Amino acid sequence: MADTIINIGGVEIRKTAALAPMASVADRAYRLMCKRFGAAYTVSEMVSAKGICYSDRKTAELCTVTDEERPMAVQLFGSEPDFMAEAVKIVLDYNPDIIDINMGCPVPKVIGTGAGSALMKDIKLAAEITGAAVKAAGSVPVTVKIRSGWSSETVNAAEMAKALEASGASAIAVHGRTRDQFYSGRADLSIIRKVKESVSIPVIGNGDVVDADSCINIYNETGCDLVMIGRGSYGNPFIFEEIEAALGGIDYKSPTVETRMKVMLEHIRLILDLSLKNEELAMHEARKHAAWYMNGFYGSAKFRGRCYQLSSYIEAETLANEFIQLQNSRINKNIDKIS
Ligand SMILES: Cc1cc2nc3c(=O)[nH]c(=O)nc-3n(C[C@H](O)[C@H](O)[C@H](O)COP(=O)(O)O)c2cc1C
Repeated sequence: MADTIINIGGVEIRKTAALAPMASVADRAYRLMCKRFGAAYTVSEMVSAKGICYSDRKTAELCTVTDEERPMAVQLFGSEPDFMAEAVKIVLDYNPDIIDINMGCPVPKVIGTGAGSALMKDIKLAAEITGAAVKAAGSVPVTVKIRSGWSSETVNAAEMAKALEASGASAIAVHGRTRDQFYSGRADLSIIRKVKESVSIPVIGNGDVVDADSCINIYNETGCDLVMIGRGSYGNPFIFEEIEAALGGIDYKSPTVETRMKVMLEHIRLILDLSLKNEELAMHEARKHAAWYMNGFYGSAKFRGRCYQLSSYIEAETLANEFIQLQNSRINKNIDKIS
């Protein structure tokens, strides 16, 4: 499977695993780290279609696509076909491989404007927005990311996907939760399968993939064309190489704590280099990432607390070294016990 290529409206993507869009998390530094470890496809943080039309100052920062991140989509959210079409035309200047429309975001600020997952309640409008985007995008494919439905009483992803396909969407990504679930419970894989059975465009399955086993499971259970990973990549860009190895039938050895800390520092360096802010302010952005790289290890709770105090790269280096020492001292203690 690792060598299989899928085609989204003419854009070729390796059938391994893609990085999900994540506002305030999957910024350029994050995408570049995931790409380095094998993410097959990346998506920008969501950008407001209306904001772009009124030349929001963050537009360029959010829409810029660098060659290292490709194939990459710029994701837009909005509830008005005209604004969506206008925004698509503006975004085309940034030369994205794909334009993705967010119809899955559950947060009140977005659904309050009728955008995001609110569109799961209005399939006709969702189709109009998609049609307007497709027309404006010309030869650039338009995809849509949806949820399983608005609530457990209105699970309509398959019906929605069919309407979006008819409006010209080149692929559908499905997060197997309803809007009402937010991120609670488990993603429902049966609804992703239902969407796959309902359309002939590629379907991207998403929800709760945290390692190679859960990735292979979603491929097997849903028949989806590509798997997309969000939170499972927190502090763990290695997940993409782990999956690629598993799909290729190759043994995979998890990175050592030394490698994890080295990659963490490279990630922090990248955040600082790409930020327009000074080191101390940019370190605020880096703190949560540093904490995620330490997750699940011995003593990580205490270290994560210290990550949230970091205000310089040098401090991060010192913390990483202490973290390595702690892990190694623990291993040595266990060896002493055994011998
Ligand atoms: C912090 C955060 C930000 C997110 N931002 C976006 C976004 O901008 N656009 C979008 O379509 N989905 C967004 N999502 C949803 C994810 O793309 C994904 O659908 C969801 O996290 C389920 O996948 P996972 O279980 O692999 O994390 C976000 C999720 C998280 C946790």
